[in-house]
Amino acid sequence: MIFSGPVSLLENLDLGHDNFLAVLDAPEVGASTEPAQFVMVRVGEGTDPLLGRPFSVARIGEGPNGATVQLLYKVVGRGTGILAGLQPGARVSMVGPLGRPFPPPEDPQAPVYLVAGGIGIAPFPLLSARLLAAGYHPRLLYGARSRGDLVGRDLFPPGIEMEVATDDGSAGHAGFVTQLLDRHLAALDSRTRRRAIAYVCGPTPMMAATDAVLSRHEARGHLSLESFMGCGFGVCLSCVVPRVGQATGYARICVHGPTFPAGSIDWQRIQPL
Ligand SMILES: Cc1cc2nc3c(=O)[nH]c(=O)nc-3n(C[C@H](O)[C@H](O)[C@H](O)COP(=O)(O)OP(=O)(O)OC[C@H]3O[C@@H](n4cnc5c(N)ncnc54)[C@H](O)[C@@H]3O)c2cc1C
Ligand code: FES
Repeated sequence: MIFSGPVSLLENLDLGHDNFLAVLDAPEVGASTEPAQFVMVRVGEGTDPLLGRPFSVARIGEGPNGATVQLLYKVVGRGTGILAGLQPGARVSMVGPLGRPFPPPEDPQAPVYLVAGGIGIAPFPLLSARLLAAGYHPRLLYGARSRGDLVGRDLFPPGIEMEVATDDGSAGHAGFVTQLLDRHLAALDSRTRRRAIAYVCGPTPMMAATDAVLSRHEARGHLSLESFMGCGFGVCLSCVVPRVGQATGYARICVHGPTFPAGSIDWQRIQPL
C-alpha cells in the first residue's frame, strides 16, 4: 500500500558536512518499507519547489504514533536545502514506499557485503537490521572523500562488521571502497566467492567500478541507483537508465529499480549528471 499525504517532522539533526537525519512521523510508510525502497518528499509551500525529491529510508524507528521514517540526506541543492532548514513540527508531503527493494541473499552461507559510497550509505542501516534478523553477518565497506563525510555509522545496529576507506587517507584504507571489496573477494576460495553477494549504493562511477569488480570475481550483487526523479512512479521518464544488451532498452529507475542486478546496467551509455 502506497501512502500519500502530509507527515510531521519530529527531528532534523545536523550531522555535519552538510549531512542531516530527518525523523518523520510516518507510521503507514514505516510499517511497509523494505530495504532500498524510497519515499518522494516535497517540501515548501505552493509551487517552489514543484517536484518531490527521492530519499531512501535509512531506518525505521519508534515514535509517538507508531513507526517513524528516518532519512539520511546530504544538502546538494534547493530541495535538500529547504528540508535542512525545517524545524521539528514542520509538515512535508510524502509518497511511499516506492520502488523495488533489495532482494534477500537466499543463501544462508553467503558472505554478504554492503558497499557504500558517500551518502549512498543511506539504505544500509535498514538493510543491516533486516539481514541480522535473518541470521546473516553482513560486512559494511564504506567509502567517502574524507573522514568527516563518513556519516551515519551510529545508525547501524550492533553486530555489523565495518571497514572504511577515504580518498584522502584521513580514515581507514587510503583509496577507493572498491579496492576493499576486491581484496575481500580475492581472499575467498572460488566456490565461496561465487556464493558471495554485495549490495551496493553510491555515486554512479563508484557503482560502475563495483559492478566491474563483482563481474571479475563472478560474485553476485544488487545495485541501488540514483538519478533525478520528476514523479517517482513511472510517468515522466526523467529517470531512465540504459540496460545491457538492449541498444534501445531503458529501464525507469523509479519503477524497475532503484535496485538492479549487478551486470544489468550499460554504464558506457550513462550520461554523467
Ligand atoms: C532512489 C533514490 C534514493 C535517494 N536517496 C537519497 C538519500 O537517502 N539521501 C540523499 O541525500 N540523497 C538521496 N538521493 C538523491 C536525492 O534525491 C537528491 O540529492 C535530491 O533530489 C537533490 O534535490 P535538491 O533539490 O536538493 O537538488 P537540485 O537543486 O535538484 O540539484 C542540485 C544539484 O545536484 C545534482 N543532483 C540532483 N540529484 C542528484 C542525484 N540523484 N545524484 C547526483 N546529483 C544530483 C543536480 O544535477 C544539481 O547539480 C536519492 C536519489 C534516488 C533516485
Ligand atoms: S521519476 Fe518519473 S518516470 Fe521515473
